[in-house]
Order: sequence, then structure tokens, then C-alpha cells
Amino acid sequence: MFHHHAIHADARRRLAAVAALILLAGLGAARAQGGPQTTPLVTANPSGWLQTSPSSGRIDTGNPFFRSFGPNGRSCNSCHRQAQGWTISADEVRQRFAATGGTDPIFRPVDGAVSPLADVSTVYARRSAYAMLLSRGVIRVGMAMPANAEFRLTAIDDPYGYASARELSLFRRPLPATNLIWDTAVMWDGRETDTPFKPPMDAGIDMEDLRESLASQARHAILGHEQAAVAPDDEVIRQIVDFESHLFTAQIADRQAGRLNSDDAMGGADILAQQRFWVGINDTLGNDPTGDAFDPRVMRLFDHWDDPGALLRRAPRDRARAAIARGEQLFNTMPIAISGVAGLNDVTGLAVIHGSCSSCHDAPNIGNHSVALPVNIGIADAGRRTPDLPLYTLTNVATGQTVQTTDPGLAMLTGKWADIGKFKGPILRGLAARAPYFHNGSAATLMDVVDFYDTRFNVHMSTQQKSDLVAFLSAL
Ligand code: HEC
Ligand code: HEC
Repeated sequence: MFHHHAIHADARRRLAAVAALILLAGLGAARAQGGPQTTPLVTANPSGWLQTSPSSGRIDTGNPFFRSFGPNGRSCNSCHRQAQGWTISADEVRQRFAATGGTDPIFRPVDGAVSPLADVSTVYARRSAYAMLLSRGVIRVGMAMPANAEFRLTAIDDPYGYASARELSLFRRPLPATNLIWDTAVMWDGRETDTPFKPPMDAGIDMEDLRESLASQARHAILGHEQAAVAPDDEVIRQIVDFESHLFTAQIADRQAGRLNSDDAMGGADILAQQRFWVGINDTLGNDPTGDAFDPRVMRLFDHWDDPGALLRRAPRDRARAAIARGEQLFNTMPIAISGVAGLNDVTGLAVIHGSCSSCHDAPNIGNHSVALPVNIGIADAGRRTPDLPLYTLTNVATGQTVQTTDPGLAMLTGKWADIGKFKGPILRGLAARAPYFHNGSAATLMDVVDFYDTRFNVHMSTQQKSDLVAFLSAL
């Protein structure tokens, strides 16, 4: 009996999943109007389905975003892929390696390998040359020590024998090339931000400045990642920026909870595209130009699913929805004693800030910080270093103090001691499609992300709280 029941339940689940996929694929196709391409707008991922809603209603694969400008065969699309939330996932990169024996254009020594000098002559050699890309989905960002810095590079422990003061190897995840109109810092360290997007601003981000930032970013990507000898003309760059800045991406359906925009929920990219935003909106540190106080209830997508009765009901879908709603509440209000975060505790002069996830991820329903706020939460700390990452020792020129880090972050731009290890908090939509997480891909799963915060800030979350948070993050 039990056996039979299990088979039935499984078959039913599979049928339901297939039905959902057909429904969603239909939805995607129906929305794509005109043109020869009918790239589906909905793609599958481990926890459900991701939706991209381009303003034009279709994904124009004729855009130069998909074109290769250099000799190495790469385009933006080599590292920014729709189904992976417009970045890459380590899983999908491994599939590409298996399918091509490590010759897909993403596998290029310049910045795909652990060192540009790595042996890539055989498939075995390529497996170790591209080990970081395969295990963590990270690209090697090469950067020289800044001139006139407050610190000197006094030791290098690079397992790949390449890094030097002339070029530190910094292993970083590609950031999603979507939902960009809300980006308050471009790149993990904000280095492509044209002018810092700071309030007061009357409405929205200064689109001119943002477009300038994205144009500069695209030029550098073509010269760097694509190894082109010259950047294409401004019109081509404009088309790329137009394309990527009109994409909106979010999870639209969950394998357990079903449609994320049904029964008054507000998941999915169509609703996201309507999100109200201006630089400084709901800022934690009082920078909202409207003068409004910070409201910790940053995420309000699943308020209506917060049904305490659902735990008692047996329908798995109801229980899955209730878990997502509980996770959202935890994100907004679960107390976190924020301490030792450079960029926050030192700036406010408060040794402890009694906040929550939403203190740092404060842009409503988007999840980045609504003004540029580079902070150091400790991802690059020596204590979290694993043997596959280079470790750098920096010595303060004035005090002789030393610090070890796997990535100095913002300090590589400013040369400031206080900026070591500072990164931006990225936009938190479409997460399920793009594991692993953090700038160096050190969190393989969303549970690893939650575990990091639990340990780093001594939150003492229960198993239930952790799984609720993961259910919520997976539905973004
Ligand atoms: C070889 C992989 C690779 C290629 C090819 C590539 N990128 Fe990226 N992209 C990255 C990485 C890695 C980062 C993050 C680097 C950092 O922050 O230091 C990034 C960051 C970005 C960002 C910043 C997003 C944000 O939120 O700050 C944008 C936008 C972007 N890329 C667009 C493009 C465009 C446009 C192209 C093509 C012209 C392109 N990329 C080609 C790897 C790549
Ligand atoms: C003190 C500020 C701060 C707090 C509090 C905070 N975050 Fe973050 N978050 C960040 C920063 C900064 C990053 C990027 C860090 C890095 O990669 O070096 C980040 C990254 C993330 C990422 C990874 C995103 C990606 O694209 O890789 C997730 C997911 C996330 N945070 C969720 C949470 C959750 C859930 C909580 C509450 C349990 C939380 N954050 C609390 C600042 C914060």
C-alpha cells in the first residue's frame, strides 16, 4: 500500500511540474511578439522557474550583447546567461565543460583560468586550469596595487604562482546583467560607477550617470574579457546598454509553492518591473531624500501568504507558501546584532547596530542598498580562506599593522586601509538560478549563505528559521 501511494504521489508531482512548465512556457511564448526569435522568457532552475521580462516583450538575440568582438570567441552572453539569472552558475559551467571538453569560449586563460599562464593543452590540463570556474563559477579579475596606497603588499600566497603587486588575482562572480536600473554601484567594488549615486535626487536614479557607468563597463568587458584590440563604436555600446538595462528578472514559480504571483503574491519579473525606486529610498542611515524613516519591512512580496493555519493543513502547496511568508518576515525583522562591519559600525560610531537582513538590503523588494554602501561583512577574511584562494598580506605604511585578505575589494581602488574587504550587497532577485553566492562564490547554496550569517553575527537561528529563510530567498 505504502509503496503504491509513494509512486502515485511521485507521478502526480511530476505531472504537476510538467503542467506548470507547459503553462509557463506558453506564457513566455505568448508574451514574445513579432520577430523571428521566440526565446522563451521562462527558464527552469533547481527550485522552480525564472522569468525575464524585457521591456520590449522579447529577448533580441541579435543585440551585440550576443556578438563576439575579439579573437577569443566570447560575448557578454558567455558569462551572463538568461537561465542563470544573467550571470553563470557553477553547475551550468560544469555542463559546458563536459559538453566541449573545456573549449567553450568561457574557458580562456586570460581570466577564466587560475593563472593566465596555466597549461590548457589537454582536457586534463584544462580541468585544473579552470578549476575555480568549475567549482565556484568565478572569473579571475586581475588588478594592480593602487599607487600611493596606505598599505603595502608584503606577502603573497598564491596557490597558482602568478599573483604579484603588478597583478593580484581576485576571483569574483559575474554579477547579473539584469535589474540594472536599480544598481547603485556597478561592479562588486563599485569601480564602474560613473558618479556615486547619492541622494538627494528628485526621482529615480540619474539615468544619464547610470548609462555612462554601464557604457564604460561594457567597453572594459570587450577589451578585457573578450580581448578585443579596440572597443566598438559608441552606437554598438549604446545598443548593449539599452539591451541589458531593459531586462527585469525574478523567480516566477516555485516547485512546491506554485505561481509566485498568485493569490495576491507579488513575485515574478512583470511585477518587479513596476517597482518604485529612487536613490536613497528607505535608506537605513537616514538618507532618504523624502525624509521618510527607514521601514525594516523591505520585502513585501508574500505578505498575503502569511497564513498561520497552513501549518496545520496538509496541502504541501499551502505549507510551502507559509514557509516563504515566514522567511520574508524573518528577512525583515529577525534581530541581528551587527558588529565589526567596516562601513557601517565605524561610520555610525555604533559598536552594535540592532538591525536585520533588511538593514543592509534596504531597497524595497529589490534587496540591494539604495545608496552605494560598500561594507565588509568578512567574506574575504583570512579566517574564511580556503586553500584554493590566494591570500594577500597587507601592511599599513603608517602603523605597521598587518591584515590578511583574499580580496582587498574597494581598497584596490581607493588605497585606503579602512576600505579593505568592502563590497556592495548585490540585488537579491533571481537568486535560485545563480548559485554559488558572495563575491568569491564561497557559499555553494542559499543554506550556506544563511549559515554564514548565523555564524558571523551569532544569530542562533533554529533549523526551521533557516529553512524558512531559504524558501523565501529561493522565491525571489
Ligand atoms: C569572462 C566573463 C565575462 C564576460 C565575457 C563579461 N562579463 Fe560582465 N562581469 C563579469 C564579472 C566577473 C563581473 C564582476 C567583476 C567585478 O565586480 O569585479 C561582471 C560584471 C558585470 C556587470 C556589473 C553588474 C552590477 O550589478 O554591478 C555588468 C553590467 C556586466 N558585467 C555586463 C557585461 C557586458 C555588457 C559584457 C559584454 C560586453 C560582459 N559583461 C562580459 C564577467 C564577464
Ligand atoms: C551588515 C550588512 C548585511 C547584513 C546584515 C546582511 N547582508 Fe547580505 N550581503 C551584504 C553584503 C555586503 C553582501 C556581499 C558580500 C560579499 O560578497 O563580499 C551580501 C550578500 C548577500 C547575498 C548573496 C548575493 C549574491 O548575489 O551573491 C545574499 C543571498 C544575502 N546577502 C542575504 C542576506 C540575508 C538573508 C541576510 C540576513 C540573514 C543578510 N543578507 C544580512 C550585506 C549584508
